[in-house]
Amino acid sequence: MCGIIGYVGSKQATPILLKGLKALEYRGYDSSGLTVQSDRLVTVRAVGEVSELVERVQHVRTQGTAGIAHTRWATHGIPSVENAHPHADCAGGISVVHNGIIENHIELREELIARGHVFASETDSEVIAHLIEERLSDCRPLFAAVRESLARVRGTYGLVVISKEIPQTLIAARMGSPLVIGVGDGEYFIASDPSAIIEQTKDVIFLDDGELAAVTSEGVSLMSLDAQEIQKETQQLDWDIETATKEGNPHFMLKEILEQPQVIENSCRGRIDLIEGRAVLGGLKEVEDRLREIDRVVIVGCGSAYYAGLVGEYLIEDLAGIPVEVELGSEYRYRKPIITERTVVLAISQSGETADTLEAIREAKRKNALTLGIINTVGSSIARETDAGVYCHAGPEIGVASTKAFVSQLAVLSLVGVYLGQLRGSLSDRNAGATLAALYELPDQVQEILNDRNLVTQTAKKYSSIENCLYLGRSFHAPIAYEGALKLKEVSYVHAEGYSSGEMKHGPIALIDQGFPSIVLCPEDSVFEKNCSNMQELRARRGPLIGITTKGAQIDHLVDARIDIPKTIECLQPILSTIPLQLFAYEMAIARKLNPDKPRNLAKSVTVE
Ligand code: AGP
Repeated sequence: MCGIIGYVGSKQATPILLKGLKALEYRGYDSSGLTVQSDRLVTVRAVGEVSELVERVQHVRTQGTAGIAHTRWATHGIPSVENAHPHADCAGGISVVHNGIIENHIELREELIARGHVFASETDSEVIAHLIEERLSDCRPLFAAVRESLARVRGTYGLVVISKEIPQTLIAARMGSPLVIGVGDGEYFIASDPSAIIEQTKDVIFLDDGELAAVTSEGVSLMSLDAQEIQKETQQLDWDIETATKEGNPHFMLKEILEQPQVIENSCRGRIDLIEGRAVLGGLKEVEDRLREIDRVVIVGCGSAYYAGLVGEYLIEDLAGIPVEVELGSEYRYRKPIITERTVVLAISQSGETADTLEAIREAKRKNALTLGIINTVGSSIARETDAGVYCHAGPEIGVASTKAFVSQLAVLSLVGVYLGQLRGSLSDRNAGATLAALYELPDQVQEILNDRNLVTQTAKKYSSIENCLYLGRSFHAPIAYEGALKLKEVSYVHAEGYSSGEMKHGPIALIDQGFPSIVLCPEDSVFEKNCSNMQELRARRGPLIGITTKGAQIDHLVDARIDIPKTIECLQPILSTIPLQLFAYEMAIARKLNPDKPRNLAKSVTVE
């Protein structure tokens, strides 16, 4: 996820662009840049936070009343000045800022290079600048050149283009990544979300997918990708800047829970070939031969990433038939781990900077293991120090409690399981196809849960005064019980323990009485009956019971409340079961008048041991 801002009007563009980037920094902050149009295009870019760009701009003459700017969350190409946006064409006649993922960027890049284009970056976004350059060289008007170029693009974009030749004109286009046009008095703004412009104007036009806009200081004209003129009403926002940064949500944690359908889509984008029934993981291609020979997978992580690894253990053993063990980063480094060259050590980390996980990877490399990463932050330490990996593409996660990152890790682990199973011939095409098809359906199923989240809110209010809670799950859902308990602890400060259901009789059941509720993950799967027996035992001790189950499951006689989720294949069900637990923890924090975005004592990334 990146942040885009454009301005055209009568004021100097640079200060407006920089102010807008500061408001958008939550969307990405590994590099940034701007282009201002005077008699030429002047572009300034910097690595790091927007403050680095502000410093650099002091030393460059950027006079002009039209411009575009971008703050980056890297998806393709590490954070660097060369990979920072805006990107130019060969002749430097146009400048483009882009938010999204161009799925077919490799084939477009090869085609353009074959036609003599020279690329300056490793990004997918730069292909857009060169495609437009070609259309302009065919004397197409800028608006048409952008539209015709986008007809070649597969993937998502929110982009803005500015040309040296066309004064005071910005061309915007949206497909899958948000863009809003701010309507001022003789001036116009284009931004990824209203937080960047709400202090200048609350009159906005939201672009929808497949729409383009030509924005000048005289006005806005809209067109569809198939060249049909469009009319849209201007709306008036009643948000303040704080609310706008969270796209209208009260907290980042809720915003990030609600964007999970899109996150799963982004994690899987370009990686599910439904026609061939294959998982396509380009990031593992260079180590494919070694992956064919491995005889053991060791997954390392901390906190939620560790719990994701525990789900990964079930997934990879189920789909690829390889022995897997999961280690806490903080413990692994103190053991004398038995690692051979046929061991692959897989680090899971949202930040890519967790000290214990990073040290575990360094230990593995010292012992010549193949090291992989499932990381959300491109160019982070773990991403750079592992031999290969798969980025999550979940976008920046601002809330301290991991939500969308955890779910994206599970989606990527599912893809890795299919990939390894097919690579080693241990997964049938039929099962691979069924798993990928079910994965492809998940975003809609997650959206279904989010649309019905009011019951979770009511349940949380009913139980908001509890001081303890036991989470139980079995098989694929044991790790989800641990993760659910962690979420509740983190943001509502209720003491919660996650246990495998089968362990309940080995001790924890001693805790149960009418004041000690349990949340049981009991979808209708291969261990449903066993979970029902556990719930019988809890009832017998008068323990209050909340069941997270699949629609139609017969558990009403066992629970005090139930939260239904859609049914999917057993190995992907944990992704759906997680969503109500995230919402429950969030709503409990709200009911207990706590700020779920900034829980006491916690940091977003634990970069110290
Ligand atoms: C999860 O809600 C926590 N914030 C924490 O456990 C986190 O998952 C852990 O610190 C690992 O962080 P990482 O994914 O950035 O490595």
